[in-house]
Amino acid sequence: MLRAAMRTKPAAERAKPAGDAWAAGEAYEAYMGRWSRALARGFVAWLEPRPAAHWLDVGCGTGALTAAVCAQWDPASVLACDPSAAFVAHARRHIADERATFVTAGAENLPTLEGGFDWIVSSLVLNFVPEPGRAVSSMRERMAPGGTVAACVWDYASGMEFLRHFWDEALALDPAAAAEDEGRRFPLCHADALAALFRAAGLDRVETGSLEIATDFATFDDYWRPFLGGTGPAPAYVAALDPERREALRERLERRLAAGAGGRIRMRARAWAVRGA
Ligand SMILES: C[S@@+](CC[C@H](N)C(=O)[O-])C[C@H]1O[C@@H](n2cnc3c(N)ncnc32)[C@H](O)[C@@H]1O
Repeated sequence: MLRAAMRTKPAAERAKPAGDAWAAGEAYEAYMGRWSRALARGFVAWLEPRPAAHWLDVGCGTGALTAAVCAQWDPASVLACDPSAAFVAHARRHIADERATFVTAGAENLPTLEGGFDWIVSSLVLNFVPEPGRAVSSMRERMAPGGTVAACVWDYASGMEFLRHFWDEALALDPAAAAEDEGRRFPLCHADALAALFRAAGLDRVETGSLEIATDFATFDDYWRPFLGGTGPAPAYVAALDPERREALRERLERRLAAGAGGRIRMRARAWAVRGA
């Protein structure tokens, strides 16, 4: 009863945000993995890496970035780590490449490689890490001489359209949900903030860039259904709503997005990328 009652409360009355819930690989793939794979390809291309390098993928999730490195950049090895054992198991099951290995570890206890890694990369992770400064410093400490640390994060405040629409409507119904809106939660997700973070961690020749992908949805249902999977901040928020509020949010979004010809909804998603040597 207590559990059921708590689930009906708006954010204003909940004790704390729903949490980020990185637990189910399939749900993550439907919600974000399909987009993070496209982003990963652009991110690695932006790095212009050499082949035969040793890579560390920090916060690998279900393996989007590791898969892109293996497919495009002929690595000597990729060690991929994530604190979610479920995500690591998913990535291991789906990436059958002898150059890639997977371990359960977070930015707080990163694996090491004798001689260091040539590329230490992280996609869509740094804003979720409790101490990003410390995380980037430990990435730097694991670099080989001449190595590079690089990361990208969504521009949640204005360039990640499908989430911006989601939170704008969620906040119109429940202003107290502002604390869960990734656009407000993550001031790190701006080019200047990322560059400052990298410089403060002792990296030189810091550069930033922006990367954009198309996020097209075949129908409104294709847009909405992944929010029901419970994995990631916005789906965790939806999971904590009672059925009436969830339906009200769904209706507002359907009206707002007003699918175009053939039911398609076309959007863009921008990410900020940063690198330092
Ligand atoms: C949005 S997902 C990105 C996953 C993957 N890199 C991708 O591009 O699809 C965020 C990831 O950060 C991971 N994460 C959360 N806290 C972390 C930490 N302290 N250290 C490293 N990774 C963390 C989560 O487990 C999750 O896999």
